Amino acid sequence: MGSTFQIAGSILAGDFLNLGEAIRICEAAGADLLQLDVCDGHFVPTISFGEELIKRTCEVAKVPVEVHLMVANPGDWVPRVANLGAFRTLFHIEASKRAMGVVQAIVKAGMKPGVAMNPETPASAIEPLLPYIDNVCMMGIAPGFAGQQLLDYTYVKIKDVRALIGKTGSKATITVDGGVKAANAGPLLAAGADILVVSSGIYQHARPLESLKELRAMVSK
Ligand code: DX5
Repeated sequence: MGSTFQIAGSILAGDFLNLGEAIRICEAAGADLLQLDVCDGHFVPTISFGEELIKRTCEVAKVPVEVHLMVANPGDWVPRVANLGAFRTLFHIEASKRAMGVVQAIVKAGMKPGVAMNPETPASAIEPLLPYIDNVCMMGIAPGFAGQQLLDYTYVKIKDVRALIGKTGSKATITVDGGVKAANAGPLLAAGADILVVSSGIYQHARPLESLKELRAMVSK
């Protein structure tokens, strides 16, 4: 584990007065993809950005872009983020009473479906969706804010979801989102993660453009 992983840059910890530069920093640091965190102020306390930023990011990004809907009504948001250029859209299982319907709407809109789960949501909740989704985005923190400490139970949940993927024959990848740093990246990958989302680990680094190179070097040690 660890050689074929991907890093998703999140601009949530970037300078909101200069998000174009934040995107360029993520890409220059070596992010394999961008994860745009849409926070609606209801599902999470914060408000971040919406369709216009997604559209403009997809127009300028040199790497693939996925959308992470931290919103109370994900079904309403799928048509809003469709056809903007994102290859995948993730929504929270806790935010929908019709999760399979949202999965199907994302597929119908031409994007790959992913389901995100909060730290308190048991891994078993995702099992019925696994055969139908491309990615499980596991929150390593309480969603809505960058810069938090990774919750230790995340390692257990990664292993649990990895086992369920094997049991169901799902092709879904596992993302860990929140609290990922160079020091814990290796153990997270060893537990079974495929994609690591990093935000403050880039922007709060003394040399942001070196941050992901350092993380990769730590992993390959
Ligand atoms: C939080 C977002 C995360 C966050 C990660 O709700 O989904 O992507 O930006 O930030 P760090 O890497 O700083 O924990």
